Order: sequence, then C-alpha cells, then structure tokens
Amino acid sequence: MLNNIIKISKEAGSIIREGFGKNNVVEFKTDEGNLVTEIDKKAEKTIIDFVIKNYPTDSILAEEGGNKYGTSENLWVIDPLDGTTNYTHGLPIFSVSIGVIRKKEIIAGVVYDVMNDIAYLAEKGSGAFANEKRIEVSSNSKLGRSLLATGFAYNIKENPEHTFEKFAAITKSVRSVRRLGSAALDICHVAKGIYDGFWEVNLNPWDVCAGMIISKEAGGSITDFTGNETDIYSKQILVTNGKITESLKNLLNPDFPLENLPSGQTICK
Ligand code: IPD
Ligand code: CA
Ligand code: CA
Repeated sequence: MLNNIIKISKEAGSIIREGFGKNNVVEFKTDEGNLVTEIDKKAEKTIIDFVIKNYPTDSILAEEGGNKYGTSENLWVIDPLDGTTNYTHGLPIFSVSIGVIRKKEIIAGVVYDVMNDIAYLAEKGSGAFANEKRIEVSSNSKLGRSLLATGFAYNIKENPEHTFEKFAAITKSVRSVRRLGSAALDICHVAKGIYDGFWEVNLNPWDVCAGMIISKEAGGSITDFTGNETDIYSKQILVTNGKITESLKNLLNPDFPLENLPSGQTICK
C-alpha cells in the first residue's frame, strides 16, 4: 500500500508542478483568505480515482469534497495540495498529503514535497523516511536553541485561542519561529530534525494525518497543548522531538507559571 500511496502522491505532484506559475482558476471557499484552485480539484480527483479503482471498498475523506463511504476498515485522508495560498502566489512551498487509517489507527502516510521531489513516508512500526533515507527528530533539549514552526488558521482574524499571544510568548523563548504555509510539510520537517517542534490550532484531519505517522515513526511526540494524546480530529497539535514538549506546553498554556519548567530546560530572555 505504501508504494501505491507514493505513486499517486507523485502523480498528483506532477499535476501541481505542471500548473505552478500558471493562471489557474481560483475560487474563495469562505472568504478572500481561503482559496481553492482548479489544480487542487484536479489533483484530488486523480488521487480519488486511483483509490476507488484500486481499493474500491475503502472510505475516503478528502479536503475538496471527494468523500466516500466504503465497507472496508480503511479510511484514506487526503489533502491534494497543502499550501494553496503559497501555490496561488507563486511561493514554491506546498505538498500532497495522504494518510491511511485502519480501525482508528494511522497505518501509513506520505507527504510529497512537490518542488523538492522529496517523499516523506512512514508505515506503522517501520520508521520514517525522506525518499530512501531514514529520518529522525532532533536531539536538542534546550528551548532557547530551538527552531520551531507554526501556522495561522484561516479564521485567524477571530484570534482563535489567542494565537498571537502564544506566538509572541514562544518567539521570545526560542531561537526562532518559521511560518511557511504548509502544515503537512512543517510536521515532516520536525520528523527530519530541521525543526525541533511545530504547533497550530484548527487544522483539519487532512493537514495532519500523514504527518502524524511520519513524525511518530521518526521518534517525535504528538500531543495537544496540554500534553494529551491527539487524533486527526483534534483542534490543537503540538509535534516535537519529545525533548521540548514540556516547556512548550507551559508556553502554550499561559496560565501555567514559567517557573514550572522541568529542570534542564531553559527559557532565554
Ligand atoms: C493550510 C496549510 C497552512 C495552515 C492552514 C491550512 P491548505 O492548508 O496547511 O499551513 O496554516 O491552517 O489550512 O488550505 O493550503 O490545504
Ligand atoms: Ca491543508
Ligand atoms: Ca489543501
């Protein structure tokens, strides 16, 4: 199955690459900040047609509406183009994200970094890879030396869960924070040890499903902001190398006094 997910992710990636920089039809989903292009739809249709042909009894949950109920135990969770705003503006940072869940457990996932031709992939219990190369989370345990990533939800203007306050608190305490616009890729960059951690609110199952198994198989920790286990439907996600989760939890929950940081972890003023 993993090889098939890789194959179809790359096929969708070719469609996306082909359309990059061209004058694609763009529609607004809810408002001018929430976009969908004809390429998102074309890529999704290609993936869904493949799943229906090869796994006819599986269920599908896909961002652009190609949902289907099947009788098997498998659910395909698909984001055909993660980073549509970047894509529309010509910023070459976006991905295809496909995860498969069986009996409530993610069993395989691929995030395809389209412009760099890197397939991040994992199967349950078999480690995580970037193309053929095994990847692992970073070993840094010092918050002050951490490079993190985050994203802002489309409804940021309503300031969900004090996004900016959390962003400011964390930015003041770490080496730096990036905000690049493809959550699926951000999570894989934690898995690869580029970032030490990533957090965001209000993501959808298709943004996180594949990244969750990839970062877990790379040795990462995936929780909500209080440190509890999450699933693809959680509205908070904190992915780290496992060594800075406690410190970040404290900053993401501002009521928690900073003095409660675990020993050995520092806050840089
Ligand atoms: C978005 C990206 C972005 C995140 C948004 C997502 P889309 O997905 O992952 O990084 O900040 O919350 O909705 O709409 O480009 O597939
Ligand atoms: Ca997405
Ligand atoms: Ca998308």
